[in-house]
Amino acid sequence: MTLKKIGVLTGGGDCAGLNSAIKWVTKTAIDPNLAAHRGQAVEVLGLREGWKGLVEVCPDEPESMAKWTTPLDELVVRTWDRQGGTVLGSSRTNPFSPSINKGQKCLENIRDLGLDALVAIGGEDTLSVAHKLYNLGQKVVGIPKTIDRDLSATDYTLGYDTALNVIVEEVDRLRTTAGSHNRLFVVEVMGRHAGWLALEGGQAAGAHVILIPEHDFEVEKVAQLLEKRRLAGVRYDIVVVSEGAKIKGQEEVYLSDKTDSFGHKVLGGIGENLAKQLEQLTGQETRHVCLSHIQRGGQPSARDRLMGRYFGIAAVDLILEEEFGRMVALKDGRITSVSLKKAIERLFVVEVDKFYDPTRYNGLRSSLIPRSRALG
Ligand code: F6P
Repeated sequence: MTLKKIGVLTGGGDCAGLNSAIKWVTKTAIDPNLAAHRGQAVEVLGLREGWKGLVEVCPDEPESMAKWTTPLDELVVRTWDRQGGTVLGSSRTNPFSPSINKGQKCLENIRDLGLDALVAIGGEDTLSVAHKLYNLGQKVVGIPKTIDRDLSATDYTLGYDTALNVIVEEVDRLRTTAGSHNRLFVVEVMGRHAGWLALEGGQAAGAHVILIPEHDFEVEKVAQLLEKRRLAGVRYDIVVVSEGAKIKGQEEVYLSDKTDSFGHKVLGGIGENLAKQLEQLTGQETRHVCLSHIQRGGQPSARDRLMGRYFGIAAVDLILEEEFGRMVALKDGRITSVSLKKAIERLFVVEVDKFYDPTRYNGLRSSLIPRSRALG
């Protein structure tokens, strides 16, 4: 295949590690040593704001090109891996949604921009568009990112580790004030329908109660668990609740009824709701904090920088090997790849049986003993 130009874009919610992936896609694609070996030089074009850039750009208009695209080279991306978010920008635009209906425009723009291949960095939504484009004959590969860690075909998604570290740091900060005032703090974290951020963030931060979307909870039982701790002499407590967690018999709590072009409503508010009820039930002064987009911000952790690098390099390998329609992945500690079809087939959520103790509302305290024996 003559490979002259690769496009790269980041879609969906931003997170740490995206810039590292863009940097390493670029560096690997244009690497002069590799170019000499391959006998061809490759250009990299950054597309701005995810699929929106590909939908909006008019390739024959210089102003539009300047607005929606940016040529990437060694000097441009040199320092990007240290920065959070995505320098290319992101959006939740779905070119195939009936309200946008710009799938055909994407195909034309890929042709008119002269892109021989495209790297889409994103979660389930962005990768589902990549998969559609692949089915329409485009040479697309994917890189997994999402702080929700809800893609089942990879053991790592960019942004997750940094988000976990944010949760731990923020809970550590809350502990001092919670302790000073003998208060209970309910900390709401992201994750959508997957409880990984709550479960692993909560465990790492030492939360006494962790509530996840995969197991509906009873507020009275949470209150009892906290009451027991107070009787044991603990003056303050931290409850971590996932934004997608539900009170038994009730629905998820949303910030509004608006949906994005992938059909998602914005979750949020369960923390506040729960804090009010716990204050009434326990009589302990209670505050709530929603960590919200703070979890997606800040500088990437070492792991996110490294994984961005490994995934970026592997994505270019896939292109060079002409293995299109695939997503790079981490499996059993090794970088590998899976089909985009498989990548978006099933969401990865917490298996309660394996990881969660519904009697404690916390992580399971046994790894080697069978659950039936461990829980008695
Ligand atoms: O999917 C990533 C995520 O951060 C979810 O955890 C959260 O529910 C959602 O994005 C928030 O989206 P937005 O940035 O559009 O508010």
